[in-house]
Order: sequence, then C-alpha cells, then structure tokens
Amino acid sequence: MEMLAARFPIFRFIPTEGAQKTAESKEIMARVGLQLVKEKRAAILAEASVSGNLEKKQFKGKDILSVIIKANMATDVKDTERMSDQEVMDQISTMLVAGHETTSTSLSWLLYDLAHPKYQSIQSKLREELLSVETDRPSMEEINALPYLDAVVRETLRKNSVLDTTARIATKDDVIPLAKPFVDRRGVERKEIRIKRGEQIALNITAVNRDKDIWGEDSFEFKPERWLEEKAQHKSTEIPGVFSSLLTFLGGPRACIGYRFALYEMKVIIFVMLRHVAFERQTLSPPIEKGPTLITRPIIKAVDGTITNTMPLKLKLARVG
Ligand code: HEM
Repeated sequence: MEMLAARFPIFRFIPTEGAQKTAESKEIMARVGLQLVKEKRAAILAEASVSGNLEKKQFKGKDILSVIIKANMATDVKDTERMSDQEVMDQISTMLVAGHETTSTSLSWLLYDLAHPKYQSIQSKLREELLSVETDRPSMEEINALPYLDAVVRETLRKNSVLDTTARIATKDDVIPLAKPFVDRRGVERKEIRIKRGEQIALNITAVNRDKDIWGEDSFEFKPERWLEEKAQHKSTEIPGVFSSLLTFLGGPRACIGYRFALYEMKVIIFVMLRHVAFERQTLSPPIEKGPTLITRPIIKAVDGTITNTMPLKLKLARVG
C-alpha cells in the first residue's frame, strides 16, 4: 500500500493502520515540538533580558533546537531569512532522520562486524590504537590522526551503507554513458542508457560500494586494511562520491551535507566505547537481518513474524594486553 501511495496519491486517503499510526505520531510530534520551541524561546528571551542583547553571536547554548531558535531570533538576521515555528521544527525532523538515524545505524552495523568471531583481531588492533592515545578526551585533530580508526570507519561505510538505494528523476531527456557495456533483453549490446524526462532512476549504492571490479574479490568482506593499501584506493577513484570514492553519502549537488559530522561522531563514539568495552556476537540470538526500511536498521524476526528493531550483542569489559 505504501508503494502504491508513493506512486498514486489517491491511495494516500485509504485509512490503513500504518497511516493512522503515522498521523497520530505526527500529531504528537507537532504538539510536543511546538511546546519545546515555545519553552526554549522563553528561556532565550529571559537570558537576553539579563544580558540586554539579542545578537546571533551572543548566545552559547549547545542543544540543536536552542541553536536554531537563537539564530532565528537574533536581531542581526533579516526578517526575510527568519523561519516559522513549523520550519524550525522541520529542521529537527531532518536532523533526526538524515543525521541521527543514519549515523546510529551505521554504528550498529560497525559493532556487528567488529563483534564477529572472524573479525576479533580487527577489534583488538583497533583497541590497541585507541589506547595509544594518552588522554580520555582527545581533540578532533588527535581523533582524525588515528589511521586504523579511519580505515575501520571508511570500511564499514563502504560495506554497510545504511541507504541501500536512492532515486533521482530526470529533468530532461538524457543519455547516460556506461563504464562497461551490457546486453539488453533483445540481445543488443548497449554502451549507454537513454532516459526520458520524468523517468525515475534507481541508484544502487550498495552494489557500487561492493562492486568486485572496483574493490576486488573480497569486496563483501569487512577488511579495513584495504584502506591502508594504496592500490585499492586508486582503483575506486572513478566513483563520483562526495567522500572517499564511496557512494554512501552520494555525490553531486544534493549529496549529504552532514558527512564530516557523521564521520567524526562515529569516530568519537567508537573511541569512547572500544577503549573500555569488548563486543562479541551472542551465540543463541536469532539471526540479525537488515530491515526492509529506507534506512536499513538491524532487525530480529520472531517465530510469529513480529519484527523488532534491535541488535543484541555481548558486552564485556575489555581486557588489555
Ligand atoms: C553515516 C551517516 C550518514 C549517511 C550514510 C548519510 C547519507 C546521506 C545520503 C545518501 C544523502 C542523499 C540522499 C538522497 O538525496 O537520495 C544524504 C543527504 C542528506 N544528509 Fe546525510 N548521511 C549521514 C549523516 C548525516 C548527518 C550527520 C547529517 C546532519 C547533521 C546529514 C544531513 C543530511 C541532509 C540535510 C541531507 C539532504 C541534503 C540535500 O538534499 O541537499 N546526514 N545523506
């Protein structure tokens, strides 16, 4: 039904259970969101009445909602550039779906690989590198200077892109040249794909990220070492991704705007966790699968078919040395 509704708007009026739940959730989000916006705004005005200043650079609040509201209220912002309360709330939804869900799910799949018995040596090697840092609170430069951590994060983003596919609609007739020709259904060899204005093109991110021609026969393996070998990096340079010859954050004018933030966030979280905790797979857990969702969350299917978004792993205090 969701697929039909995406294609034919008339189906959006059929009151399915899913549609009802979505409407209820939206209503709660709007009510709670607006309340939060009001409370934050009142707090900011109270702060300003003490300092007597409402300039953008004046405020130092850290949470994202305060930052947006303060920026939006500042006297040095033009009225035409101000957002409505609804638009302020929409920014939060974008951050949650585009920023939080993607990064947290990417981290889950990274832990899943690190916890695999086959990859325990990778986990130990990474922990060794992280423990070589003398402080518990390294700077951004210190975090980014860790080569194995960088290779591990790149590798999980390559192998486990949380967005398997995305789509674009052609705004004009076009011809897409192909790197390799293919034989179509009529047996004719094609060196290009002709598309018409309005046609939808599915982009298979995972297929490109795991293409054996680019990454080699072990492209389905979790192998951070490939990022330390010059050859592998060289082979992938034709991929027009915005980051590291991968399609994970896509490319072009509508590529991910938050990828540097995501990379750093993933590195910081792994840094903190892995120095103290060791991850293993649970032997008796039902199989963990990719969910049939836009962002491929880990799921477990119960015998009665119920799906739970979860990734149970075994955690232990890390033994060092
Ligand atoms: C591992 C984490 C992330 C992944 C894999 C990811 C992936 C992507 C991809 C593939 C797109 C393009 C989608 C499309 O147009 O079809 C995208 C767009 C976007 N991302 Fe990310 N993203 C991540 C983290 C973040 C973070 C942390 C933020 C914000 C702080 C963010 C904000 C956005 C926004 C706002 C867009 C829409 C850009 C536009 O349409 O112009 N993303 N992301």
